[in-house]
Amino acid sequence: MRIVAQGLTYTYNPKSPFASQALKGVDLSIEEGEFFGIIGHTGSGKSTFVQHLNALIRCTGGKLQVGEFDLTDKKCDFLRLRSKVGMVFQYPEYQLFAETAEKDVEFGLKNFCKEMDEAQRAQAVREAIETVGLDYDAIRDRSPFELSGGQKRRVAIAGVIVTKPEVLILDEPAAGLDPLGKKELMDLLHSIHGGWCKTVIIVSHDMDEIAENCTRAAVFSEGRVVLCGTPAEIFSRDEKLFSLGLDVPTTAHCALLLRKHGIRIDTDFTCDDFAQKVLSLWQAERGEGQGSAAVKENSAAAKDSEEDSSPVAVKENSAAAKDSEGDSSPAATQENFDAAKDSEGDSSAAETKSADGQGGDGDAE
Ligand SMILES: Nc1ncnc2c1ncn2[C@@H]1O[C@H](COP(=O)(O)OP(=O)(O)OP(=O)(O)O)[C@@H](O)[C@H]1O
Ligand SMILES: [Mg+2]
Repeated sequence: MRIVAQGLTYTYNPKSPFASQALKGVDLSIEEGEFFGIIGHTGSGKSTFVQHLNALIRCTGGKLQVGEFDLTDKKCDFLRLRSKVGMVFQYPEYQLFAETAEKDVEFGLKNFCKEMDEAQRAQAVREAIETVGLDYDAIRDRSPFELSGGQKRRVAIAGVIVTKPEVLILDEPAAGLDPLGKKELMDLLHSIHGGWCKTVIIVSHDMDEIAENCTRAAVFSEGRVVLCGTPAEIFSRDEKLFSLGLDVPTTAHCALLLRKHGIRIDTDFTCDDFAQKVLSLWQAERGEGQGSAAVKENSAAAKDSEEDSSPVAVKENSAAAKDSEGDSSPAATQENFDAAKDSEGDSSAAETKSADGQGGDGDAE
């Protein structure tokens, strides 16, 4: 199901003194098969936008098409739409209401899959509860309100995925989970994505999460989409993101620090890719293996893009690398990062200017 929003607007409490325009003309397309991220400062309209996608908020201005459903059409079959587009709320714990976890998860099935008999429903509920990593027999008769925060969230997610929606939207699904809980949640989303769940859309404030998991992302600001592209495109616009009060992934912070030393790492900002590029640079400095080609390219790019300070920076790095061959490399790395921090200042302006200038095609304005 392709999602296309054109000039989507929405005002809470219209015609009242408390009117608040949350969406001011959202233009955005999300293709079937994507693992799509939505980021933006608090109050930028992310939740308002995603709640339009399964008609929890009805369209009042602009156009919105979700697969075959025209959401501006009052005759749209909203029940069928909701069976295909599942929504996990920003605080999914509040989605729970039934006496037992099992009944809670079953609720969606009774609504959307009326053709199923009791045995099929019981099987589907068990599957959904196990898919989110909970022990069905241990949890089925427990009140959802007695569960831990992480367990409640899993039950709420089970209650949405039990109907196997084609599009699954999760509004800040990992907020407040511990690192293992976050990893398990992302693994779960990847395991269902590409199967019955064709498209996953996550709203997140965590840039590392977006960089690691998403095929593309959109940046919301003041009720509009101001940037849209792959994580590599978006996070190369660091200056723009900082100006919007947003952050970049840890890998992008590291890349920025290295660039201040004249080392340009052309990365997609995933940890794997970043580490691979740094390793390749390191190996080339030591004259090892296939890394050399990558390093030469990187060194050449760094030389081209920096003033004459870059060769010194590279030399410093290579000296540090030689000194630290063996077990002292973390200290050497620390030194480089300290030096980079000290040098923050006028060079960062040039960096960000060039980053802002080169990424124009990702800019949705
Ligand atoms: N129920 C509501 N009634 C009135 N105004 C609302 C309501 N919900 C949201 N708003 C307003 O609409 C704007 C967009 O809110 P929204 O919840 O979509 O932002 P968000 O990007 O999801 O923020 P956050 O990151 O904090 O979750 C904000 O100005 C907010 O105050
Ligand atoms: Mg929100």
